[in-house]
Amino acid sequence: MKEISLYVHIPFCKQKCAYCAFNSFCADEDVKAQYCKLLCQEICARKLDGYVVKTIYFGGGTPSLLKNEDMKNIVDIIYQNFDVYDNAEFTIEANPESLDEDKLKLLKSLRVNRVSLGIQSLNDKTLQKIGRLHDRKTALEKVELARKYFDNVSCDLIVGLEGETNLAGYAKSLVERGVKHISCYLLEVYDNTPLGQMVKQKRYKPLSDEQTILSFNKLSNYLVDQGFVRYEISNFALPTYESKHNLNYWARGEYLGFGIAAHSFLNGIRTENASNMRDYAAKKQTQERLSQNEEVEEVEEGIMLGLRCNLGVKLPLKNYDITQNPYYADYLRQGILRKEGDRLFLNPMFYHLSNTIISNLLPNP
Ligand SMILES: C[S@@+](CC[C@H](N)C(=O)[O-])C[C@H]1O[C@@H](n2cnc3c(N)ncnc32)[C@H](O)[C@@H]1O
Ligand code: SF4
Repeated sequence: MKEISLYVHIPFCKQKCAYCAFNSFCADEDVKAQYCKLLCQEICARKLDGYVVKTIYFGGGTPSLLKNEDMKNIVDIIYQNFDVYDNAEFTIEANPESLDEDKLKLLKSLRVNRVSLGIQSLNDKTLQKIGRLHDRKTALEKVELARKYFDNVSCDLIVGLEGETNLAGYAKSLVERGVKHISCYLLEVYDNTPLGQMVKQKRYKPLSDEQTILSFNKLSNYLVDQGFVRYEISNFALPTYESKHNLNYWARGEYLGFGIAAHSFLNGIRTENASNMRDYAAKKQTQERLSQNEEVEEVEEGIMLGLRCNLGVKLPLKNYDITQNPYYADYLRQGILRKEGDRLFLNPMFYHLSNTIISNLLPNP
């Protein structure tokens, strides 16, 4: 049996955050109920024989906003249609304000075993400014509550927000509460978001690049001192707590994505569902073939994904002798790249330069 990962997209949010350009929106209860129905239909229709599910991930949007009954229906449909390992990693993303004891109990009964909380910051002024609905006190209380039910709790932080130079302090508050995994995302400012407009009008000043790197490094040093491993550019975990779902993406493993805008990768073909409710409801989630040249894509993706995490890249690559790349020998000599057996790794100290390094190493830089 081949292994596969499943992703379920829940696009609803109670309020849109000022920085967020993800496919997520506010919706009334009728729309949410209709979406859950469509989702269940899609899951049934895409049942796969010959595969066993190794990870399930409910992402968003805000999956913790789902009514308990809807959540249960979707999970039941998954288990009725797919073979799932008993020890499959099952993650749900949650926002602190929409998580309570009742929901956590339900999630536990549905075999969820990993909760990923969007914390972003532990400073009340910052949280308010970026449009989050929780404050520091709620965030920490909900981390403790999530830990009461789940060993494997992850938190998201954003690096680069205005005035936010003490992320190591936030990480300490989370680690002291037993958080095993922290994702640290560099702030991306998109023009089509309220934050993008605020930046344009000089009403919001993200950290400079130097301040951001400094803040990230302090955070990273703190986490590494606590035994965390930076196993991917933005991700830190205590040993064995790496996100298996994300590792599958980075290893170019197969996955099915359900819901609007969800991506899938099966039999070497990437597909994407319709990205708005109307087309999704009209079942226009006709699968589009994204890649034109699979062999080139395989090599390029292998380099891009593998060097950004501690999986590395397996050599030799198909039809591309990377050792003949003009940058290869220099990077090895400078310790930017490291070769171990037949695998090539990017030294995590150079992760912040990964875009340039990787583009130099691609077949046609
Ligand atoms: C898709 S969101 C879903 C999680 C959940 N809805 C929440 O916000 O708590 C996943 C994570 O992406 C990160 N994120 C979203 N927009 C971002 C941006 N513009 N820059 C950096 N990180 C961002 C946030 O850390 C967020 O927790
Ligand atoms: S960051 Fe999370 S809660 Fe905020 S709008 Fe984006 S998906 Fe929704």
